[in-house]
Order: sequence, then structure tokens, then C-alpha cells
Amino acid sequence: MISIIVATAENNVIGKDNTLIWHLPADMKFFKEKTTGHIIITGRKNYESIPEKFRPLPNRTNIVVSRQTNYTAPGAIVVSSIEDALKKASATGDDEIFIIGGAEIYKQSLHLADRVYLTKIYSTFEGDAFFPELTTEIWKETHRSKGITDEMNKYEYDFLIFDKIA
Ligand SMILES: NC(=O)c1ccc[n+]([C@@H]2O[C@H](COP(=O)([O-])OP(=O)(O)OC[C@H]3O[C@@H](n4cnc5c(N)ncnc54)[C@H](OP(=O)(O)O)[C@@H]3O)[C@@H](O)[C@H]2O)c1
Repeated sequence: MISIIVATAENNVIGKDNTLIWHLPADMKFFKEKTTGHIIITGRKNYESIPEKFRPLPNRTNIVVSRQTNYTAPGAIVVSSIEDALKKASATGDDEIFIIGGAEIYKQSLHLADRVYLTKIYSTFEGDAFFPELTTEIWKETHRSKGITDEMNKYEYDFLIFDKIA
């Protein structure tokens, strides 16, 4: 199974200036729980947006996609296409492969994914990176649970799952 995992604002913004805009530790915890033990596939820019001391993300095989022939990411696997990343990932026998962004990678891989874990934040943000619209002809919402809003997680948000139906 190929899964995308993403957090979006109401206006589908996912980032700005190669960083995440919001601070939502409950979603970071969800991301960690879902992806730990699995392969994660990331675009080069998203990978570089992770603070150096936290990358590669631990207890996960990190695959970084870049067109640069000489790109290196110590501790991670670098590949030159999304197809190559998926080929390498499926060869490991992992039962759920996670595509973790960013915008370019989501856009190019949405048609290859079986599932989308979408944390929907009910606020709008100004940004320069967006997640594509999930059309109801192709994607069915199969799960929705309310995120807890508190001192640390100041937004209203839901955890949603969409599964591909066509
Ligand atoms: N809210 C969320 O859940 C979430 C999750 C992830 C990321 N983000 C945000 O998304 C933004 C980053 O997204 P982005 O679109 O700018 O960058 P990106 O998708 O992370 O990375 C783009 C880079 O990936 C490589 N690439 C893309 N398509 C490729 C292909 N077909 N073959 C080979 N390499 C390919 C290229 O690297 P080279 O230039 O090295 O060739 C390209 O410059 C940031 O703001 C980040 O915070 C948000």
C-alpha cells in the first residue's frame, strides 16, 4: 500500500518558504506513530526543511528524491525519480510506504497512492506550497476523528483518511 501523509490548511496550504507554518505537536505525534518502522519518501526540499539534527527521521528508511546527480544525504537513500523510490521501497516488503511531501512530490504521486492521511486544520494561512484537491470521484473519506485543541495545539483540526475508490 502506498500512503500519502499530509496536513493542510482550509485553503490547502501546506507550507511557506520551505517550512511548516503551524505548530501542532499532536499532528507531529500522529505522523511519527504512523510512519515509524516504514519507508518514507520525501522530496529533496522537504527533506532539507527538516532540521539537520532530526534527519534522517529515525526508525524509518528515508528515501530522498532529487534530480541532482551528485546529491547526497548521509543516512538516507537518494534516488532520481518517484518511480525509483517506489521500486526500492516495495522491494523491501514494507506493507505501507509513506510519501511525506512536499508539494511537488504530492502532486506527482497522488495518482499512485492508495490512501491519504490528511490532517485538516480549520484555519487559513498564507503560503506557497499547496496540496491538490481530493475529488470525490476518486477519493472516499473513510475515517474522521476530532483533534484535541489545547494549550499546545491551538487550532481546530480533524484527522481524516481518504481511500482511493477508482
Ligand atoms: N503540511 C505538510 O504536511 C507538509 C508536508 C511536507 C512538506 N510540506 C511543505 O512543502 C514545502 C516543500 O514542498 P516543495 O514542493 O517546495 O518541495 P518538495 O516536493 O519537497 O521537493 C521538490 C524537489 O524534489 C525533487 N523532485 C521533485 N520531483 C522530482 C522528480 N519527478 N524526480 C526527481 N526529483 C524530483 C527536486 O529536487 P532537486 O531540486 O534536488 O532536483 C525538487 O526540487 C515546504 O514548505 C514544506 O514545509 C508540508
